[in-house]
Amino acid sequence: MSGTTHNPPRTAVVTGANKGIGRAVTRALAVLGHRVYLGARDQDRGLAAERELRAEGLDVRCLHLDVTDEAVVERAAKRVEEESGHLDALVNNAGVGGPVTLPSRTPPAEVRRTYETNVFGVIAVTNAMLPMLRRAPAGRIVNVSSVLGSLTHAAARQDPTGAFPAGVFPTLLDYNTSKAALNAVTVTYANELRDTRILVNAVSPGFVATDINGHQGVLTPAEGARIPVLLATLGEDGPTATFVGEDSTPTGRQLSW
Ligand SMILES: NC(=O)c1ccc[n+]([C@@H]2O[C@H](COP(=O)([O-])OP(=O)(O)OC[C@H]3O[C@@H](n4cnc5c(N)ncnc54)[C@H](OP(=O)(O)O)[C@@H]3O)[C@@H](O)[C@H]2O)c1
Repeated sequence: MSGTTHNPPRTAVVTGANKGIGRAVTRALAVLGHRVYLGARDQDRGLAAERELRAEGLDVRCLHLDVTDEAVVERAAKRVEEESGHLDALVNNAGVGGPVTLPSRTPPAEVRRTYETNVFGVIAVTNAMLPMLRRAPAGRIVNVSSVLGSLTHAAARQDPTGAFPAGVFPTLLDYNTSKAALNAVTVTYANELRDTRILVNAVSPGFVATDINGHQGVLTPAEGARIPVLLATLGEDGPTATFVGEDSTPTGRQLSW
C-alpha cells in the first residue's frame, strides 16, 4: 500500500471470481484491504464464494457479471459506481477454453464462443468500468492472458516460464488465438491511456491446477494469483503495456508478445 492517505477504501473488480485464480485474486486483494467485487456469471456460485470469503472478515461483494452479456455488464458497473464511485483495479480474469482438438478440426463457432468471453467480454467490461478507473488515484487494469497467447514463444515453441518442456507448445486454435488477441487488446488500451494514471498489463499466471485444465496444473490458485495481484497494485512508476509471466522469481518474467 502507498503511504498516501486515501479515505475511501480501495476497490477492485475481478471477473470470473467464484473459483480458481479469480477467487484467489479476490481473496488476496481483500486481504490487502481492498473492497473486492467478486464477479460471477452464476449468482449462486458467486454468493457461495462471497460467503466463504466474508467469513474470513473480508470485504468481498458478489457482483453478478456475465462478461458476454452487455446489459449485465452495464448493470454491474452501475452498482459499483453507486456503491463505491471509483475503481482502483480491474482484473479481467474470466476465461474459457474449448475442447482440445487440432486447429484443422476446430469449427469457427468454437473459436467465436471462446472469443466472446476471452476477448469481447474483456472489452465490454473494460469500457464499462473505465470511467471509474479514471476517477481513481492510480487505476490498474490486469488482463489474465497466457503464455499460449504469445506469438513469439509459439513460433519458437519455447515456453520461457517452463510450464511446457522445450519443443512442446499446445496448438489450441480457440484459446491461443483468443489470448493473442487479448494481448493486442492490452497494448491498445495501454496506449490510449498513456497520458492518464491508468496502467494496463497482461499476465500469464503459470500452470495452475483449476477446472480449466482438469486440475493438471502444478501451481495452486493462490500461487497463480501472485503476479495478477502485483500488477493490480503497481505503484505510480509501474510499467504499462507489459506481459509478465509467473516463473517463481519475485516480480515474474517479461514475456514477448
Ligand atoms: N489455470 C491455468 O493454468 C491458466 C494458465 C494461463 C491462463 N489462465 C487464465 O486464467 C483465468 C482464470 O482461469 P482458471 O484457471 O481460474 O479457470 P477456472 O477455474 O475454470 O475459472 C474460470 C472462471 O471464469 C468464469 N467465466 C467463464 N465464462 C465467463 C463469463 N462469460 N462471464 C463471467 N465469468 C465467466 C468461470 O465461471 P463459472 O464457474 O460460472 O464457469 C470461472 O469463475 C482464465 O482467463 C484462464 O484463461 C489459466
